[in-house]
Amino acid sequence: DKSIKKVQAEFWLPTETLDKIVEYFIEELERGLVDGTDPLGIPMNLAWVMEYPTGDETGDYLALDFGGTNLRVVMVHLLGGKKLETEQSFYRLPHGMRTTKDRNELFEFMAECLEKFLIEKHPSGIPENKTFPLGFTFSYPATQSRIDAGVLQRWTKGFDIPGVEGEDVVPLLMEKVNNRNLPIKVVALINDTCGALVASRYVDPLTEMGCIFGTGVNGSYYETVNAIKKVKGQLPADIPEDSPMLINCEYGSFDNAHKVIPRTKYDLKIDADSPRPGQQTFEKMTAGFYLGDLMRLVLLDQYKNGLLFQEADSKLIKLLETENCIDTSFLSLIESDESEDLSLVKKTFADALHYEDATSDECYFAKEVAEIIGTRAARLSICGISAACKKRGYKNCHVAADGAVYLKYPNFPERAAEGLADVFRWGRDLPYDQHPIKIVKAQDGSGVGAAVIAALSHKRQLQGL
Ligand code: BG6
Ligand code: GLC
Repeated sequence: DKSIKKVQAEFWLPTETLDKIVEYFIEELERGLVDGTDPLGIPMNLAWVMEYPTGDETGDYLALDFGGTNLRVVMVHLLGGKKLETEQSFYRLPHGMRTTKDRNELFEFMAECLEKFLIEKHPSGIPENKTFPLGFTFSYPATQSRIDAGVLQRWTKGFDIPGVEGEDVVPLLMEKVNNRNLPIKVVALINDTCGALVASRYVDPLTEMGCIFGTGVNGSYYETVNAIKKVKGQLPADIPEDSPMLINCEYGSFDNAHKVIPRTKYDLKIDADSPRPGQQTFEKMTAGFYLGDLMRLVLLDQYKNGLLFQEADSKLIKLLETENCIDTSFLSLIESDESEDLSLVKKTFADALHYEDATSDECYFAKEVAEIIGTRAARLSICGISAACKKRGYKNCHVAADGAVYLKYPNFPERAAEGLADVFRWGRDLPYDQHPIKIVKAQDGSGVGAAVIAALSHKRQLQGL
């Protein structure tokens, strides 16, 4: 009991701390709009989407969604009148791809998935007289000087493939696409958060932000060009000052300077052992790629302090010493156990860690820790939303959310809503559906969003803009 209280105290973020985080977050959003190249700050990447969708965009678009756990190819039929249809296939990222030493493998895999998809949809042969416009959802920080190009700034979410950082990923993909003679042309490169926002806005005009709570954590929203100092000189002089521009914040890197978020010794270890120490501070405390490892480190610490797993086989301890042996689904599962005897927690220990003899103390402890880690992640991740809404003066709006943590982690949406209620002082009694700023499940973000953005930019290209 005492040790749980200790962990709880280490991870708990009171509202006053959230207030300070949000205040600094707003400063950082603003700083990123002026420059955005400071590795200790937030990039605030220009997305070159300069209009809001109306819901009347039409056309057939391919979307390649590469960012989270799966690779997905989607054919989106935008029908106008806020209507659309999609056909899609998922392809699991081959084991080891995140850290392959050969970048060709990655882009070859993407082209192969596109080819498989086109063949599947056209069994009698891919049409030769047609070019499929492709929206490429590439969910990593990319510098864009136009909508259909993007130079990878740095890998995130455990990816570490040499030869891609500093390169425009569109020609890297197109080389492999052309080698296969696929009739495809990239018309837009987008981030998954932008996809979530635009896809949801296509059907719901109250949407002002797109957020991912998944393998990574990030958000996007529209600024007006006069607020984006760094865009000066890149736009025609006669563009109205209040024209919108979508910004991919890349706020997973928030507080790399370690000014406001209290970090535990577990956070320090995760950062030190990651492929990119010092980067993605905010993401490492909130995103699915890291929550399992936080749990592992807390459990291991209990063992080292002689408090838990004292009777366990040395195999368990060896496993607990292995990075990433626990993933976020472990936490989701044990949090969802409502039984008296925590039988699902016990089973999860057995299935995931081959540990059959978890004691009830160990099960109880692990369940509490999952709750503590999940609560901190939720309370912290709404700081980005709060900052953007405060900065833009959004008082009543929808925030479109996607990602496995939002969709699958028990109680995450409720805790996030509670965090927002604390920051905005709505009071805990106000039912979630009456919250003025509501986080809602995104419309199939990246597929539809990529298609809508592709349609918008296609239209602009046709108009010669
Ligand atoms: C998916 C989107 O639903 O969620 C992807 O289509 C996005 O574009 C992903 O990257 C994020 O979730 P996760 O949990 O896979 O990282
Ligand atoms: C990481 C990526 C970012 C993406 C997020 C969610 O933070 O850098 O581009 O939006 O993960 O997938």
